[in-house]
Amino acid sequence: LSDLRRVHVELDGEDPYEIVVGPHALREAKDQASRRRVAIVTQRRIPRAYVNELREMLNESHVFTIPDGEVAKSMANVEMLCSKFAKWGLLRHDLVIAIGGGVVCDAAGFASAIYYRGVKVLKAPTSLLAQVDAASGGKTGVNLDEGKNLVGAFHQPVGVLADTSTLITLTKREYRSGLGEVAKYALMPEGRNVVALLQKHTPQILDRDAAVLRELVYECVKIKMDVVQADPLELNGRRAMLNFGHTLGHALETAAGHKIKHGEAVATGLVFATALSCALGFVDQSALERTRDVVSSLGLPVAAPSDMSARRLLTLMRRDKKASGGLTFILPTPTGLEPYEDPDKGALRAAFKAVGINASRI
Ligand SMILES: NC(=O)c1ccc[n+]([C@@H]2O[C@H](COP(=O)([O-])OP(=O)(O)OC[C@H]3O[C@@H](n4cnc5c(N)ncnc54)[C@H](O)[C@@H]3O)[C@@H](O)[C@H]2O)c1
Repeated sequence: LSDLRRVHVELDGEDPYEIVVGPHALREAKDQASRRRVAIVTQRRIPRAYVNELREMLNESHVFTIPDGEVAKSMANVEMLCSKFAKWGLLRHDLVIAIGGGVVCDAAGFASAIYYRGVKVLKAPTSLLAQVDAASGGKTGVNLDEGKNLVGAFHQPVGVLADTSTLITLTKREYRSGLGEVAKYALMPEGRNVVALLQKHTPQILDRDAAVLRELVYECVKIKMDVVQADPLELNGRRAMLNFGHTLGHALETAAGHKIKHGEAVATGLVFATALSCALGFVDQSALERTRDVVSSLGLPVAAPSDMSARRLLTLMRRDKKASGGLTFILPTPTGLEPYEDPDKGALRAAFKAVGINASRI
């Protein structure tokens, strides 16, 4: 286990924890959970081999399976999960282990935040997106019909085991979607090590080499947790920087009825945000070319489907819950990422054009 990477997390008022990254990081569950009674929350599509590997290390465990897909992130499912915990007899000092992608981490995380007013949760993310983003940082939650992630809680895990050897069974598209968040970290000012890994190891990354992925996931998680540590409860604006690429990204996901995956939408959102910054004069054309290069080298879309309506996307972006009434973007500037509100129509048109959307009538 010596070749695992570890990110130590210390947040005010919280117990410190470790994010362990690398091939077979799951084996660390033996130290962290073997003496507890454990409720394992997972999904049918998560290979049973991972769940069984976990169970073999545990004294007493029970598996709770939630439905697949974003629909699983509902109040109804969390209520059902909590009822099943109660029927099984999960008690205050027992442990929940969430093993799966971001949906499992968010839903099981939220159930853990509210069951018995909070039980401990260990997260074992098995999708690239959950390893680089969703599993760490303590945000948990579910969706309402009115919008995504509208109900939730901050509830830090007692640990995160990001086993990069589990990524091999993800579908190609899910894996690529995770690379969209990796592209975001690469394009952040702190992303130099991520860029170096992408430049040096693109074939291994596309082949999902577990040891190279250990380095990649580790570098991304370090960036995320530095931001989270500066703003754990999203109070001072620092954490909002993680939404780089997400203003257009979320709108694209909604407009496409979730036929576009989160990371794919974020990738196009990164091009949009850089083009907007370019049109506003903060960065030059070479920054836009660089963003396009990073996004396309990972097989991600630099443009949106051409039938997208700019007007509809603008309406959706105004509704983005991060926006403070108007339109808010996180833009790359020479001094780092900065929030920018209500850009003029000319700049918006140029940014839409850069992602292949005609916005002449906005
Ligand atoms: N809490 C946060 O900070 C945060 C951050 C980013 C995203 N999220 C949330 O994460 C969710 C998206 O996560 P996701 O992209 O992981 O989607 P997901 O959880 O739906 O997983 C994608 C699919 O891959 C399957 N899967 C996962 N791991 C697998 C594996 N190793 N082998 C085979 N199949 C596997 C899942 O069962 C699912 O069908 C969204 O709901 C988003 O809101 C949360």
